[in-house]
Formats: sequence, C-alpha cells, structure tokens
Amino acid sequence: MTGDDPREESASGEPTTGEPLTDGGAAGADDVALDPWGSSSVSDYRNLFEEFGIEEFDEVLEEVPNPHYLMRRGVIFGHRDYRPVAEALQNDEPAAVLSGFMPTGDPHIGHKLVFDEIIWHQQQGADAYGLIADLEANSARGMSWAEIDEHARDYLLSLLALGFDPEEGELYRQSTNRELQDLAFELGAEANFSEFQAIYGFDGETDVSHMQSVVTQMADILYPQLEEPKPTVIPVGPDQDPHVRLARDLAERMRFFKVSEAYASFELEPDERALVAEFYERLEPEAFDDDQLRCVHVAEALEETPLSELEVDADTLRSVLTKLEEAGMEPVRPRTRFFDRRATDEAFDALIDAIDGEKRVYESHVDAFEIDRAAAEALAREVEVDTGGYGFQPPSSVYHRFMTGLTGGKMSSSIPASHISLLDDPEDGYDKVKAATTGGRETAEEQREKGGKADECPVYELYAYLLAGDDDEFAKRVYDECVGGERLCGDCKEQAAQLMKEFLAEHQEKREEVADLLEQADIELESPRRR
Ligand code: TRP
Ligand code: SF4
Repeated sequence: MTGDDPREESASGEPTTGEPLTDGGAAGADDVALDPWGSSSVSDYRNLFEEFGIEEFDEVLEEVPNPHYLMRRGVIFGHRDYRPVAEALQNDEPAAVLSGFMPTGDPHIGHKLVFDEIIWHQQQGADAYGLIADLEANSARGMSWAEIDEHARDYLLSLLALGFDPEEGELYRQSTNRELQDLAFELGAEANFSEFQAIYGFDGETDVSHMQSVVTQMADILYPQLEEPKPTVIPVGPDQDPHVRLARDLAERMRFFKVSEAYASFELEPDERALVAEFYERLEPEAFDDDQLRCVHVAEALEETPLSELEVDADTLRSVLTKLEEAGMEPVRPRTRFFDRRATDEAFDALIDAIDGEKRVYESHVDAFEIDRAAAEALAREVEVDTGGYGFQPPSSVYHRFMTGLTGGKMSSSIPASHISLLDDPEDGYDKVKAATTGGRETAEEQREKGGKADECPVYELYAYLLAGDDDEFAKRVYDECVGGERLCGDCKEQAAQLMKEFLAEHQEKREEVADLLEQADIELESPRRR
C-alpha cells in the first residue's frame, strides 16, 4: 500500500477537457482500474461509463434544482442512480448526503470539491454527514492516532469554514460511533472474504483490520438511513466506486423481501420472464374461452416458433419449456411476487396481512394479483420498516474529476508543488500558481496566432474548479480568451495566483472563526486511542 490519499493518487495525468468539461478526457490509453487504495489513474473518463456502468451526469442535470457549478461545468461528470436524490430535493422530500475523509495529510483543493458537494446538498435540504475515516487511516495507511487527530481537526475546520452547518448536519469519526460499528457488524454478515478478494484484491496477507475498515465504510454509506430509508448520495472520486457498488449490493441483501413479477407458481430468470411476458401478450389471454390460458398453451406456442425469431438462446428456451411443461394445466396469470429473503416470521405474517386483494401464500413467497410492481415495492419496504428492518434504498453516488497537478501529471500530496493545501500560506499559494505548468504555446506570438490549450491547462482547471466560483461567465471568458489567443499565460497566471492568494487568506480567516463552532460540535476531536 502506498502512503497517499487515493483521491490524489488517482488524479489524472491526462489532459482534461475544458469549457464545457463534458465528455471523457484523452481517447485511447485507458488503464482504468478503480482501486480505492492503489494508485489507479483515470486516463479516459468515458471508459468508466462503458466498463463500469457509471452514468453520465449530464443526463440527470436537468432534473437537479439549482445545480452547483461543479455540476454545470462537468467537473462532476458521473453518477450512479442520482435521480431519486434529485427528485427528493426537487420535491422537498427527505434526502441525505454523506462523504468521508481519511485524515492522512492536509486537506487540499481537491478535497474542497467534496466539501462543496456536501454543503451544497445540505443547502438544498438534504441531511448532511461528514465523517472522519480514522479507522481506515489507521488500518490501511498506518497513521498514528496523534497524526489522525491533528489532520481530522484540519479537515473539519475547512468543512465548517466552507459552510457546513454542524447543527443541522452530523459529524462523526468512525472509531467512536457505536451505532456505526453495530451496523458494520451486521453488514459484515452479508459479505465474505471471496468477495473482498474479487473486489479489492485482498489476499491472505491483508490485515483483518483493513477488512473491518471496509465494512465500516459500508456502514458509513448506509448510516444516513438508520432512522428511515431515504435517497442518499455519496460524493466521491471515481476510485471509490467499488465501495459504492458493494454498498448498493449490501443494501439490497439486507432487505427482507425481494419483489419481482411472475406468471405462474414457478420462478423465472429475467430473460425467461421477458419471453413468457411476450408470449402472454401475444396469445391474447382474453380470447381463451374458459378464460384460462394455461402453461401448456404457452409451451406449445413457443415450440411452434423458430428459435431464430426468439430473442433468447437455446438453453434459455429449453429451460422455460421445462418449467412450463411441468406446470402443465396451471393457469398463466401475471402477478407480483414477494420473495422472503431475510424476513422474520413476524414480518412475513405482517406482509401477508398487508397485501390487499387476491393473494396466494407459499412457503417462502407470496403472490399478489391486484398490486402493481411499484406499489409492491413500497409495501415491502413499509412492512420491513414496521417490523424492525432497515428497508435500505440503494445509495447513490456522484463522481468528480480529479484535478491535474500544478506541475502537470498527478496531483499528489507527496509532491507539494503539485497541489495547494487549504493550509498553505497565501503567498506560497500565489507562488505555486505562478510556477504552474500551462497549456500555453512556445512564444507569445504563437499563442496570439493559435490560442492557448485551455483544455490541457492546470491553471484553467483552477479557474473552472475553484477560482471562478459560481460565475460561469467568468470561467467562460477565461476559456474563450485563452483559446482565442487574446489571453497570455503570464497575465492569466498572475490573475489566478492573485485569486488563489485571496481565496486562501479568506478561507484561513474563516477557519479561525469557526474554531468555536467545532469545539461545540458533537464530535470527539481527540481519540481515546494512543497506539
Ligand atoms: N475511503 C474514503 C477515502 O479513501 C474515505 C471514506 C470512508 C468514505 N468512509 C466513507 C468516503 C464513506 C465516502 C463515504 O477517502
Ligand atoms: Fe492556461 Fe491561461 Fe495560458 Fe490559457 S492563457 S494556457 S488558461 S495559463
């Protein structure tokens, strides 16, 4: 394991697109591996959509009320299942936002993106959570508790200084949150080592504490739903996507009931179900005299249809036919099925009672004939929550681009000149920007003629991600002037350096102002642990 924060290590060395920052970065090279503790780099963001099923943020943007500038500018480029969160914000319904920070070094301008995302969601009405991943820092990074305490305070001060409201929201550290640890223990019962091996590459040498920090992160992600299920977004870098996927799986596995659609007493795989659904429609069940379309009828119709006209392979067809023939004269009737996954007897009985209309009860499922799928999902959750379950909704995520290092390449805490810490002396911040690599041409003449390469310029990124703030016109002006050849790098950097200096001075002043707020906040600033 390296000693760096993955968020920095994964920073892209490839050019990122500028204004608008929309599609992926460079084409071609694509060594995509999403590793939360490794040094994966993202060379092609588009690959994340194709290979990992991350969705493009642009597609939900319209549904987001007052989108943050990081959303508008494509810095937040991807998401998983963000729609329910956007909808809840839109309708003033309960929603939550949570992210965590490993206190391994100073908070820097890359972390500011995540702070801003939490704060924005809080301001839109979501319950907001900021956590210190001290167990992870200790187990995966070998940080001492004294170091952890020092860095934790710095992260928290910056989060508050940027506008997090600790009275409305919740701050905690993993190690002292008892409810969190209880949840982690429960979730651990639904995950096993082979799975960790497949997802994270753990092996026989991996510390057990490191594995525990994973279930702790799973608990972090579901923690906002302990009181009641609600859409929850986890803003992180794409390196954390494996964690998000696992948390979504675990949320599902914790559910008491699984709702699906069925046509007869037996179970169908999804592609089998689609086939039966299609033939059910095609056979026009109303037309059957005695009102009874039976399994054998569907089987016959299937057998008369050439395989080439069906959208399934021979194995699937054979499997459906076997099921239909075995059921024989059983009527085919669409129904909503509640499958008992981990329900208590009490919960199962409560579900049976709660189902209105015609129903049929089996050993480990109930079929309902008068409830549609959506209503069934809602009912299953309601019964689960009423009978002591969590009823988790799968957590959502949003992913932001990694900032390019000021010296080109990755932004890394081990290369001080590559990043700007939120604690940097404002003069040092000024100097670092002045010394940054740019997307400028060899000579001023060439630049006037061809324009600068804003898309490949870390200084332009500073404007887009931070310095232009909410002012889109300003960001666009910088971009247009740069690529139009009107803006030269010397002046451009001078302006950016000045803005950076002002930002740091102001931020640090605010950090001092919120020191009391932090003292009063409900979070232990000193770990009781010392080794
Ligand atoms: N693993 C995250 C990191 O490396 C920190 C973290 C812990 C976290 N728990 C979390 C992030 C929950 C988001 C949600 O930075
Ligand atoms: Fe970058 Fe500014 Fe130079 Fe354009 S003019 S390349 S944005 S430093």
